[in-house]
Amino acid sequence: MVGAVVARDDEILAEGWHEEFGGPHAEAVALAKAADARGATLYSSLEPCAHQGKTPPCTEAIRKAGVARVVYWAADPGPDSGGGGAWLRSHGVQVDGPCGDPGTWAAENPAFFHAATSDRPFVAVKLAASLDGRIAPAGGRRVWLTGEEARREVHRLRAGFGAVMVGTGTWKADDPHLTPRGPVSPRTPPLRVLLDRQGELPAEARALDGRLGRPPLLLTAPGQASSLQARLGERAEVVEVPLARSHQTTPPDRSPHPRLDLGAALQALARRGVDSVLCEGGGRLAASLLSARLADRLYYFVAPVLLGADAVPAFSLNGRASAGVPDPSRILRGWSARLAPTRFGADTLIVLDREG
Ligand SMILES: NC(=O)c1ccc[n+]([C@@H]2O[C@H](COP(=O)([O-])OP(=O)(O)OC[C@H]3O[C@@H](n4cnc5c(N)ncnc54)[C@H](OP(=O)(O)O)[C@@H]3O)[C@@H](O)[C@H]2O)c1
Repeated sequence: MVGAVVARDDEILAEGWHEEFGGPHAEAVALAKAADARGATLYSSLEPCAHQGKTPPCTEAIRKAGVARVVYWAADPGPDSGGGGAWLRSHGVQVDGPCGDPGTWAAENPAFFHAATSDRPFVAVKLAASLDGRIAPAGGRRVWLTGEEARREVHRLRAGFGAVMVGTGTWKADDPHLTPRGPVSPRTPPLRVLLDRQGELPAEARALDGRLGRPPLLLTAPGQASSLQARLGERAEVVEVPLARSHQTTPPDRSPHPRLDLGAALQALARRGVDSVLCEGGGRLAASLLSARLADRLYYFVAPVLLGADAVPAFSLNGRASAGVPDPSRILRGWSARLAPTRFGADTLIVLDREG
């Protein structure tokens, strides 16, 4: 998610980008491509790193290449990797940066900035809703609310996450594959995660198709894992997650039984190296994540259709619009639209980010 350009006056000498975690940084790639960067300006979307991590410090490479000026956009929040701007200044390089404000940096590269301050994965909730705030018709009928362009964008988004997660109601209704099948093929496809408290996922579920690559991860309640794993064999990885004490919360979510503890579920994903999760619904899981302040971003596609009062609400604790969510005025307090809405065909994508 970092790009760099080496330029002299109006001429671009070389460009580079950070292709993968652990791979060479954008600045090093651009400098390696530039035949002669002496006296040139290096532009980078992130402050050049000042430490030996998986790769050598970019600041050293910049100084050795004889770059005269560095312009960078976002400050590096890392306790070890940050401070490259000051280091370069103290070694005689003219430095302009950081530019812009931290809110904009986080909006452009949210998982990276989230990782600097949190030990749980970055969580984005994606929903496609009708104009009247419904995500599926009444009665569990399966329809596409959004058009092809919006669906292609969802596949592109999926490709950028470490995991894609859905609630029980969603896999029961939609039987999804949860694979990215869009314009971007990620080197490491996202881990597919399904909530399955009662261990009910049928053996013929599409997500279990062995041709889809890495088996999905099923999160189930304590005591369920061994029978579920025995039933599905190697087609799934099963992990137990403690139950939340949601029936004791105020106000209660009217669920007749405790639910999976979503904070613990995210910790289980973090232990598997997952740094970002795209939750693709449904409405109950979305409401739970938002209510528990476990979501950081909302991708909300609005389709120009109406589904009516009986349809499945975008946010509710029990799937019925009348139940709603507890204290709705508080749930999105402090969230804001840092990115402009985008049109995908007839649909509009609104992106909201949680501040702090
Ligand atoms: N338009 C869209 O973007 C979109 C996206 C996804 C889904 N959908 C539609 O939405 C509908 C499904 O949504 P839904 O709201 O009924 O179900 P959901 O959010 O997919 O799943 C909710 C279920 O997940 C389980 N769960 C376990 N722990 C939970 C927790 N901590 N919080 C919340 N749920 C937890 C619960 O089942 P247990 O009680 O069995 O544990 C709960 O009833 C379907 O009709 C689907 O087609 C639309």
